[in-house]
Amino acid sequence: MLNRGGWGNPDVLLARDAERLVVVKDFGPRSGLVRWLLGRWITGREMRAYRVLSELAAVPRLLGRLDALALVLEYRPGVLLSRSLRGSLLPGFMDELRDAVGAMHARGVVHLDLRHRSNVLAGEDGHPVLIDFASALCFRPGGLAARLLLPWFARIDRGALHKWAQRIEPRS
Ligand SMILES: Nc1ncnc2c1ncn2[C@@H]1O[C@H](COP(=O)(O)OP(=O)(O)OP(=O)(O)O)[C@@H](O)[C@H]1O
Ligand SMILES: [Mg+2]
Repeated sequence: MLNRGGWGNPDVLLARDAERLVVVKDFGPRSGLVRWLLGRWITGREMRAYRVLSELAAVPRLLGRLDALALVLEYRPGVLLSRSLRGSLLPGFMDELRDAVGAMHARGVVHLDLRHRSNVLAGEDGHPVLIDFASALCFRPGGLAARLLLPWFARIDRGALHKWAQRIEPRS
């Protein structure tokens, strides 16, 4: 168990398939109402975001789904971002994180929960990893909604980047 979900969140499990460790996000153990009203909808939305972002190195691969309530992801071990990592991250870490978020926005996806410390990792290789697209919104790049709304939502993600920069960038 990586994270036991509350009444409205999935359980996040570390599992092993034939050859590797994988992460399973599963609404299966939640109440019937949550499964039907939230579980299917959030799982479907999160899968969509992972598919759109499948080329980004900073985003774990979506490996598939067990059923309508449970998605399976590549396991990207790492440490959660926190102030205590200041000075110990790769020198270009924050720039890479900014580039990853920019590439995500260019594909029409806004994350909206990047402030939460559980959603940005420093991977074992030292590079940033973005997870948890449960709150993300996907727009069709170039479409009317993207042109009108995406810049506004993207500011929320950039505000989170600003917060992380202040916490983890070495003080000059
Ligand atoms: N692909 C992954 N690779 C490595 N660890 C992961 C992965 N996905 C999730 N985790 C771990 O599981 C935790 C919870 O996952 P996630 O944030 O997606 O679920 P959540 O239901 O939103 O939980 P929370 O409410 O704590 O944010 C993450 O903080 C991270 O430690
Ligand atoms: Mg999370």
